[in-house]
Amino acid sequence: MPTKALAKKSAAKKPQPKKDGLTEAQIAVHWKEEGDIRPPARFIAQANLNDPQMVERFSEKNFPECFREYAELLHWDQYWHTTLDTSRPPFWKWFVGGKLNASYNCVDRHLAKYKNKAAFIFVPEPEDEGHTVITFQELYRRVNEVAAMLRDFAGLKKGDRVTIHMPMIPELPITMLACARLGVIHSVVFGGFSGEACGLRAADSGSRILIYTDGYHRNGRWVDHKASADIAVKTAEKEGQSIDKVLIWRRYPHKYSSETPMIMQRDFFINDVLKEYRNAVVEPVSMDAEDPLFLMYTSGTTGKPKGCQHRTGGYLAYVAGTSKYYQDIHPEDVYWCMADIGWITGHSYIVYGPLALAATSVLYEGVPQFPDAGRPWRIAERLAVNIFHTSPTAIRMLRKAGGDEPQKHNYRFKHMTTVGEPIEPEVWRWYYEVVGKGEAVIVDTWWQTETGGFLCTTKPALDAMKPGSAGPACLGIYPVIWDENGKEVLAAAHAAGNICIRNPWPGIMQTIWGDPQRFVNNYYKKYNADPNSKDWRDWPYYAADGAVLAPDGYYRILGRVDDVINVAGHRLGTKELESACLTLPEIAEAAVVPVVDDVKGRVPEIYVSLKPGVHSNRAITEKIVATIETMIGKIARPKRIHIVPDMPKTRSGKIMRRVLAAISNRMDTGDITTLANPDIVEQVRQIVQGRERGPLAEGPEDIKLFGEDR
Ligand code: PRX
Repeated sequence: MPTKALAKKSAAKKPQPKKDGLTEAQIAVHWKEEGDIRPPARFIAQANLNDPQMVERFSEKNFPECFREYAELLHWDQYWHTTLDTSRPPFWKWFVGGKLNASYNCVDRHLAKYKNKAAFIFVPEPEDEGHTVITFQELYRRVNEVAAMLRDFAGLKKGDRVTIHMPMIPELPITMLACARLGVIHSVVFGGFSGEACGLRAADSGSRILIYTDGYHRNGRWVDHKASADIAVKTAEKEGQSIDKVLIWRRYPHKYSSETPMIMQRDFFINDVLKEYRNAVVEPVSMDAEDPLFLMYTSGTTGKPKGCQHRTGGYLAYVAGTSKYYQDIHPEDVYWCMADIGWITGHSYIVYGPLALAATSVLYEGVPQFPDAGRPWRIAERLAVNIFHTSPTAIRMLRKAGGDEPQKHNYRFKHMTTVGEPIEPEVWRWYYEVVGKGEAVIVDTWWQTETGGFLCTTKPALDAMKPGSAGPACLGIYPVIWDENGKEVLAAAHAAGNICIRNPWPGIMQTIWGDPQRFVNNYYKKYNADPNSKDWRDWPYYAADGAVLAPDGYYRILGRVDDVINVAGHRLGTKELESACLTLPEIAEAAVVPVVDDVKGRVPEIYVSLKPGVHSNRAITEKIVATIETMIGKIARPKRIHIVPDMPKTRSGKIMRRVLAAISNRMDTGDITTLANPDIVEQVRQIVQGRERGPLAEGPEDIKLFGEDR
């Protein structure tokens, strides 16, 4: 019995306890290597990727032509003449000369064979509402009608941008596909971001149309989402971007479920306008492979989120290929990715990848633990889900809230994914043994918003699984780990370094919307020796993640090395939080640090110092929380706020966040003698550790889907 053997092994292989003075990376490299677990024979027998020759076909000597194999999974209106054009590094061009339409590839071309097959099965959060099936025929009809409305009523055309701020309901992918049909670039903002955050993104992208929902169910509550549309419009307008129309889907088609009034001439119900477009058919616009498909804003090292711009051909080819070979999606499978479409995981592995393969996907509106931690397993049993995809935060939370729930349910997974953050080996083992019942293969997929699709993970039928390690590089991806000086950190070194990808691949973003220099600086400058070089080998992609390479070629990802905090598998820029704090007149300085959390992985803690004459009180912490919720969203709520007399600083006046992080995580602060004000460290430690709980000690406890809070 593999399960028992594994349980025994697990006791001996726990990560070593934290020792004071060790960084996270040092701790991680002290973990013992886990044993290998072979994929189940039943899985191997049916896998899409069971030919070891494929690895050879994607080896470096066959680069870049190997990626033709992914592109050939798609329908091309016109075939490309150049697989990869590297003439203007690092602005790579993929499948140059090729023409295709993403909506055609995800919908129309499946009609001949799968017209009556479910494309989506929508599961509302209230359990008594039952589920709805949307066939490919129905999807085709609805995408066409919406495309006609966007074109004729909203006046949108190829190259225009549209900002979509919607929850997990079928109208979200329908709207995205309608945009793709017209060549309109969609920018979906995660529903849990505030109206203000949405407005800033809309302004940055130059959207004049916003698409919303009146409301939705979330963790047993009704969220009045239309209210945030009004804030988004005001914010965008303050930024100089006027919004012509706000198009609103009603969550319940026949009744308006928001208390926020509609604004005449600006707000329109899509459900009503669509009546004019009944059975409309819109010819898909044939796009150049390099035309942008969408923008996805993500946090970086500065306060301003960046719009990652993804191309049509390369992106679609990459997500179709990785969905087929790593998610092992066959048309007859029932696939459920519990991410939110408002993040890159949802774009690549709910919408574009699976639909390009004619998958049947479950779309779930709510949080996994509503009304209880048995919900995901009831859905899996009822709908015969056999491929399951989620994050370590959701796994930790479901384990904590109902560790024996899975075995009460009669479902059978063949394949499971974990994504978004490092997974602890013991959490991995619960996923494997209890959720997967020892029968499902697991892939731990490491990638980023910028990368479009997976970078490192195991080939599910060919590679052994190793708890806590993402695995080897994906087909056609050639990583390297370098230290700060550009010296390669080899497998035998047992040391961590910066993981980079040496080559371009079709899923990589094209640029940062409106800021190509930032694209070059953020991702390519660090290890580029010659900015004039035209050779792609001189332009490695810098991922800003720490990693360790084991002798067997498996990568263990340790987490961000920049000012990004990965909260529950989602990215928050510390600078975004700090800037929000500094908008308050009382605050002199602010510093945000990541703190280890046993469910969410990391959570932010905030240190602030006040302006002279301002006294510390609870009202200030409440104001800070309210400001963060307004400017970013509840997702960014800090776990604790510490008001301190001063920040530890270097002699040049730089705040030493490392020292604050050590205090928050109850670790050794290391050498502080070189600080300008070493005495403050003890005072801060007294404030933080001297009391049991800070003003927000409990933090936002109601963890949501993927851990996010709305
Ligand atoms: O630190 C890595 C972590 O998530 C970051 C990317 O976040 P985002 O752009 O929001 O994309 C999330 C979904 C891909 C990475 O820089 N990360 C992602 N996957 C893993 C991971 N860390 C460890 N293991 C993973 N499997």
